[in-house]
Amino acid sequence: METTAKPNKIDEIRKGIERMHLEGRSADQLMQGITLLLNRQMLKYNWVGFYMLEEKTDPPVLVLGHFQGAMTPHTRIPLNQGICGAAASSGKTVVVDDVRKDPRYLACSLETKSEIVVPIFVRGKVMGELDIDSHFPAAFGVEDRALIEYCAELVGKRLENK
Ligand code: SME
Repeated sequence: METTAKPNKIDEIRKGIERMHLEGRSADQLMQGITLLLNRQMLKYNWVGFYMLEEKTDPPVLVLGHFQGAMTPHTRIPLNQGICGAAASSGKTVVVDDVRKDPRYLACSLETKSEIVVPIFVRGKVMGELDIDSHFPAAFGVEDRALIEYCAELVGKRLENK
């Protein structure tokens, strides 16, 4: 499978994100740092953002948090809608190589061709997710997925106060 960047570039970014975590940043600062780093350094990650679960709402909804890229009309997403809702409700990473072919897709930008959404677990429960859109089809290969899952894992750990 084609990847968006050479593995050493991905390694470099992984180290940068690990450093932010080790510096003891708050979950909020960590999420902001991740969106900036991924959007600036990974050239095919054209929109990078977090959605966090608002549990006080009945039924719960995903609410847009830190993001980089164009403003999206989808600031609140119910769990039964979109790729975002699918990832949060199943607790599984969803990779869509061609968003036009996925009926679940909620359009954010006409330029988006592919998308990945990775759930964030806190004490075994989905509490949010990291969503990335690309203007390129099939932009998220195996190494990208591993990097993005690592970011989601660190945010989950920080939310658990680890
Ligand atoms: N495409 C997402 C909606 C969020 S925007 O991409 C930022 C979805 O289908 O859930």
